[in-house]
This record gives sequence, structure tokens and C-alpha cells, in this order.
Amino acid sequence: MKIAVLKETQPGETRVAASPESIKKFLSLGAEVTVEKGAGESAHFSDAAYSDAGAVMAASVSEVVKGADLILKVQRPEAGELAQYSRGVKLAGLLSPYADPAVLDAYAKAGVDAFSLDLMPRITRAQSMDVLSSQSNLSGYKAVIDASAYFGRAFPMMMTAAGTIPPAKVFVMGAGVAGLQAIATARRLGAIVSATDVRFAAKEQVESLGATFITVDEEAMKNAETSGGYAKEMSEDFIIRQAEFVAAHIKKQDVVITTALIPGRPAPKLVSEEMVRSMAPGSIIVDLATEQGGNVALSQVGEVIDTGGVVILGFTNVAGRLAADASNLYARNLFNFISAFVDKETKSLAIDWEDEIIAGVGLTRDGAVVHPNFINSESKAEKVKTPAPDTQAGGEVEIET
Ligand code: NAI
Repeated sequence: MKIAVLKETQPGETRVAASPESIKKFLSLGAEVTVEKGAGESAHFSDAAYSDAGAVMAASVSEVVKGADLILKVQRPEAGELAQYSRGVKLAGLLSPYADPAVLDAYAKAGVDAFSLDLMPRITRAQSMDVLSSQSNLSGYKAVIDASAYFGRAFPMMMTAAGTIPPAKVFVMGAGVAGLQAIATARRLGAIVSATDVRFAAKEQVESLGATFITVDEEAMKNAETSGGYAKEMSEDFIIRQAEFVAAHIKKQDVVITTALIPGRPAPKLVSEEMVRSMAPGSIIVDLATEQGGNVALSQVGEVIDTGGVVILGFTNVAGRLAADASNLYARNLFNFISAFVDKETKSLAIDWEDEIIAGVGLTRDGAVVHPNFINSESKAEKVKTPAPDTQAGGEVEIET
């Protein structure tokens, strides 16, 4: 089994798909690993560290992918890179198929069997492969650290001879993996933390971290979770009542961190322009959802903006701002995924297309799109009705292709 690890090419991508540690593990499975020179530079993994772990280093994409059975990536390959992949090769990465379903056709045409780990089913067996969790956890932490770096005050209460500094008030919207880590981090820094979510299960988790749970309608929340654990889109009535309730709360906050997502849909708009303007100058908003359309009315993708003294951070790839940890965890997720599909006798890839994990992440096979949510993505001219990622939710997503 020959594995290729490429240097990431998307602007701002600091992560790498393999670490020296994961390479050692792949070698112990009987694989050979070739890494593109400089692939780990921004995650602080040197070429020497990869070589010492047993990887072969190569200078160009064509050399790295030559003869490879499997290519490991963080983000999806660009067209020029994809053109250098051999037919039949397997590709694993964060391919974000909902962001651009048309690229699935490109994988199919190139004869690449693509696996998108961001579609990993949330089942117990796949927990160690769950890239969204490993990366969101880091984003939640980093969101608080970023907020504290821009905040002109301290987070903890400080009693000094010169007087008392009050603790910062932090409000976290969306208490999934990133939100819960943001709550825990803000609490560790001494802030007074409150949080909200639409899923009822989140209430207990928020309270167990010592934060206050804020909600407008507990009854409506009881039906807001899909069987896969994700949020459903809420009714217009709920959204209006939630917004009124949140508006009164937000004006008293120093820091707001938004993390709310709905798989396959644009991020819900939770903070209006009016709410932003109601906050005191010096307040900070961190919008972790800018790449999915944003939770905050004025946030800009990848930008820090100051509006009337309220600073809104719209950083993208927030996990990548902790490149070493994000890469280490991502590399372990990838190893755990691949090693589950290696035949220990022949030491080669043995993909079981009937397996729930493969059915969840497999996009293309033998030149065709196979993922049920994207099978129609070839028809570019029309809007395609695509089932939501959690098909048991019974939802449908309209994707413009
Ligand atoms: P996510 O990244 O899809 O969304 C973030 C949070 O935003 C979610 O908690 C969601 O309920 C919330 N949200 C959506 N719309 C909202 C709105 N209008 N207002 C307020 N909040 C809103 O979610 P994430 O972080 O991926 O976690 C989803 C669930 O999956 C959680 O219950 C988590 O504990 C669970 N999970 C299960 C795993 C497993 O069983 N293997 C692994 C990881 C997470």
C-alpha cells in the first residue's frame, strides 16, 4: 500500500494530513509513505522529522502521487493537482462536498475514489475518525483565545488595591463541540458564561460546565434534534421569539461567540445588525460560522471588522490557527479511518462499500458519483433536491449546481 501526502495548496491552509507519528503507524501496517517536501512546514513538522519517521520525501506533486494507492489531503485538490492523480487512486480529505457538489463529477471523471471525512457518521465506532469533532474542539478553544486577544479588558475578576475588575460576560451561541469547548475555555479564564442552543440535550451539557443556559422555549427544543444528533432548522416563529429573547441578553454581554451550524444548510442568522449595535464599545463578537454564511449580520469571511467599537472576528479555518495540534489530531483521525479498512494479511486497502462508515463518506467509485446525497450532481442546469446529510431527519436541501 503506497500512501502519498501532499502539501496543501488552498490559501491560508496551515494543516497537513500526516504527522511523523501517523507515518510511523502507517509504516507499522506495512505501508510505504511518500511526503511532499515542505508539506508540514506551517504545522512545524520538518522534512527531517518525516524522514526520521520513515517517509520518503519527494519534491513535486507528480513524484509524490506516482504509483500511489491512496492520497491523504486536508482540503480538496485543485484541478491542476487532480489532473496528476492516476485513475483508481483513493483520496481522503475534508472535501466539503456541500460547498461545491460539482467537484464530485471531477473526481468521477478523473477515476478517483474520493472519501470526504467531514461526512463521517456520528456512530460510536467512528468516534476516533470524527474530524469535525477534533477540529471544532480546537476552534472553540481558539475562538475564546482570539476574543481575549482583541478584548481590551481581562476575563477574570481581579481584586486589586486599585479596585476590582469585574469578570467578563461571555455568551456562546450553539453548544455543540466547538461551543462546549468555548464555554469550558471561557470558564477557565474566569468569565461569567451563558449559552444557548436549539437542542434540548445541550442544556444539561452547558450547565455541567458551570454556564447558564438561556432559552426561549424548552418545549420546541425537544424536537429540534435529528437522530444523528444534529440541529434541525427551526420554525420561523421560534426564530423570531429566540431573536427577541437573545437581543435583550446580548446587550449586556462583553463577548459573544457564535458556532451554530445546520448540516447542508446555510448557518442560521442569530445576531442581527441591531443586536451588534446594541453592544457596548469594546465588545467582541467571534463568528465561527462565516464560511457557512455566518451567524452574525455584519461579519465578513476572514476579516476583523470594527463597527462602532464592537469588533467582529470572522476568521476562517480557525482550527488551522493551531496548526500543529489540528494536524496531529486530523492525522490520527485519518489513520484510524484508513487502518479500519486495511487487510492485515495482504497489507493492502480493503474498502468495504457496504460498511456504514464507507457509505457515509464515500463520494465516488469507479468513475461514478455514489453518495446518495449527490448522485444527481451531474445535472448542472437545474436545482437538485438533495436529502439532508442526516437522511433520517427527513429534511431536504436545495443545492444550486
Ligand atoms: P454543529 O457544528 O453542526 O452545530 C453547532 C451547534 O449549533 C449545535 O449544537 C447545534 O444544535 C447548534 N445550533 C444550530 N442551530 C442553532 C440555532 N438556531 N440557535 C442556536 N444553536 C443552534 O454541531 P456539532 O458541534 O457537530 O455537534 C452536534 C451534536 O453531535 C452534539 O450533540 C454533539 O455532542 C454530537 N456529537 C456526537 C458525536 C458522536 O456521537 N460520535 C461526535 C461529536 C458530536
